[in-house]
Amino acid sequence: MFSSQLQCIESDCRACYPAASRIYTCERCGGLLDVVYDLGSLNGEDLKSVWDGRRASLKASDQSGVWRFRELLPEADESQIVTMIEGNTQLFDAPRSAEYGGLARLTFKHLGMNPTGSFKDLGMTTGATQAQRLGAKSVACASTGNTSASMAAYAARAGMRAFVFIPSGQIALGKLSQALDYGATVLQIEGDFDDAMRLVREVAEEADLYLLNSVNPFRLEGQKTAAFEMLQQRAWSVPDRIVVPGGNLGNSSAIAKGFKELLDCGTITRLPKLTIVQAEGANPLYRMWQAESQTLEPVKGATTLATAIKIGAPVSWKKAVRGLRWCGGEVEQVSEQEIADAKAIIGRDGIGCEPASAVTLAGIKKLIAAGTMNRGEDVVAILTGHVLKDPDYTVNYHHASLSYTDASRANISIASHHANRLLQVPAERQVILAALGR
Ligand code: F0G
Repeated sequence: MFSSQLQCIESDCRACYPAASRIYTCERCGGLLDVVYDLGSLNGEDLKSVWDGRRASLKASDQSGVWRFRELLPEADESQIVTMIEGNTQLFDAPRSAEYGGLARLTFKHLGMNPTGSFKDLGMTTGATQAQRLGAKSVACASTGNTSASMAAYAARAGMRAFVFIPSGQIALGKLSQALDYGATVLQIEGDFDDAMRLVREVAEEADLYLLNSVNPFRLEGQKTAAFEMLQQRAWSVPDRIVVPGGNLGNSSAIAKGFKELLDCGTITRLPKLTIVQAEGANPLYRMWQAESQTLEPVKGATTLATAIKIGAPVSWKKAVRGLRWCGGEVEQVSEQEIADAKAIIGRDGIGCEPASAVTLAGIKKLIAAGTMNRGEDVVAILTGHVLKDPDYTVNYHHASLSYTDASRANISIASHHANRLLQVPAERQVILAALGR
């Protein structure tokens, strides 16, 4: 494995730190940190054949869809790697979704098929491994649900204590049930995600907790392998465009970094375009991009039923902006109605996802309608969470009882344009036959 170090992303700082430092941000300027590698020492063609060869191996670190790519990961001793054989998630061809969005063809990379049902596992294996390397006994995160589920599982596997800070009453039950079942101490904070995030960062040092939010650069190193694995599954052919949901903006940043590193190693010769999609009620990056502003203005009291991305002050916005610049990207926003309908269509493809993931298809439909995306583009959209994470949302949609409270506290009903209604029938043969249309 190759050596790596931490480096501040701020162009006027670029301070470096050893990879084994227990820090999350730059000690000199407070900027976000990257894990950086000596990319010039790697041969892009050799990497492909080493990585392709490992797919036939029985070793856990080769089978993991993250550690398989370890030449571009922080070094870790085999014995310290905490893995649940994450990654290895499907690329699905989605014809109904493509037609709905207005594309000739659409592929979903379903990161919700990871061990705990979300993309977070890709970053948690590298984050938990770094925690082991540093000898941490306890780990912590603030979460809209999926990070907490994933961290709780990986901490349990590694025998570390897990502390999760969640916004009170604002996370999907599937995710809460996971964190409880995997044995984490769950602190329900009377506030929103942004409050929970601020508080966990404030107390982590004093309480000796190793922070596993995506501000931790080791998390993003695992998440970037979504780009590697997708390319490997496509025989290293680069798509025209990647579409990613945006919340705390760690995942979009990580995926952009993954593509950029492969370009710098010569594994690929061009970057895909990057499109980040946010919910209208939690859209600080969209606003910033529209205003062509240099700084992100947090959205106070962010609202969306896609609770995974109900975030007003995204921590990784500077890395996301950098990724958008590398990839010639753009930012879109979508309404609650658009998210709900797109989610139902993704379900009809036999795939399904949680609400936050459906912003991808809703965004594609909008960009096609606006003429910003072409029907013939080769698009890979990232589904981030499993359909079973938030069954209440799905059942309410199909029951035509989904509604939300907007920023002005008005209650808005979502129209269930693609509802698949439950049929309630008495236990009688003739009625059942009639219901079956016979
Ligand atoms: N989709 C899902 C299903 C998520 O859980 C998240 C984030 C995102 C998209 C957005 O990704 O934050 O990297 O931009 N969930 C975090 C959590 C915040 O705590 O589970 P992002």
